[in-house]
Amino acid sequence: MVDINELVKENVIKLTPYSCARDEFKGKTGIFMDANENPFGNLNRYPDPYQRDLKAAISKIKGILEEKIFLGNGSDEIIDLCFRVFCNPVVDKALTFTPTYGMYEVSASINDIKIVKVPLNESFQIDLKKVKPWFSDKNLKLIFICSPNNPTGNCMNYSDIEYIIANFNGIVVIDEAYVDFTDKPSFIKMVDRYPNLILMQTFSKAFGLAAVRVGIAFSNPDIIQYFNKLKPPYNISTINQKAALRKLDKVEEYKNQIIKIKKERERLSTNLKKLKITEKVYPSDANFLLVKVKNANYIYNMLVDKCIIVRNRSSVIDNCLRITVGKRSENNKLVKALNTISI
Ligand SMILES: Cc1ncc(COP(=O)(O)O)c(C=O)c1O
Repeated sequence: MVDINELVKENVIKLTPYSCARDEFKGKTGIFMDANENPFGNLNRYPDPYQRDLKAAISKIKGILEEKIFLGNGSDEIIDLCFRVFCNPVVDKALTFTPTYGMYEVSASINDIKIVKVPLNESFQIDLKKVKPWFSDKNLKLIFICSPNNPTGNCMNYSDIEYIIANFNGIVVIDEAYVDFTDKPSFIKMVDRYPNLILMQTFSKAFGLAAVRVGIAFSNPDIIQYFNKLKPPYNISTINQKAALRKLDKVEEYKNQIIKIKKERERLSTNLKKLKITEKVYPSDANFLLVKVKNANYIYNMLVDKCIIVRNRSSVIDNCLRITVGKRSENNKLVKALNTISI
């Protein structure tokens, strides 16, 4: 069994965290003269540093204890915290399966952590043979698994992920930003079984709140406490906490949107496959499609000229565009525009 405290950086263990006014008095009523706030207005008070109301609502919906939930200023804050809690600059390493979400590498570089890149196989799946030798590297502290993966769109095999969590004596971070768009199971239930698992989800995709910047980490309470120790005291504004809470009340609304997006994904995929410029539309468990085309750079620029912006991923996967599923009318306009492009 992995001992989490053994993995945490010494300075984090020793750190005395900042104790803010709202840490010292947690009540909601009274005359507040403790935080140097302006007594006038309706956004004059600092937010709840631990976002208790929002966590209570997430706990109910996801069926997981509040003490196992951390909220970050987007998943990107959580990725950064993983490095700051577990990785000593210069000496420690993190492993990613490429091609994948670019922030793992950028965040590693910001924290001066080495990144080990293990390429996914030709089906964009994890090749366990290539990962296992790394398990014995004492400086490898984190393994990031993005599933469904950005930009390939597919889920990693469930048994491969579980094998890694069960056999790696470090922290495994599973990024499930796109999990609501797949019928395959989430790893959320595994948080209770594996203390070395950090599972990330976000309000930015299925919940439609990218502007609000709320990312979620589910993990064991020890890891959550280390994240709490390092985070800025008021990392999520009151307005953003409320916006996320309001969204959780509208279950029907976001579930219907997910159904619509999944249907549109299939329709868009079918229509893209019919185009002359298309070489392959990859299967997707996410809200985007990875599409191999005849000349990605040219097509990307032609679309920009028509005010349609997709993501050119040809620098990471040869001649591939990543296309986010839009509204029906937007998808129709894209297909129509692509139909007019000849190579
Ligand atoms: C795999 C993955 N994780 C996380 C994020 C970012 O999430 P957030 O908006 O919560 O920072 C993205 C954004 O595109 C993503 O593709």
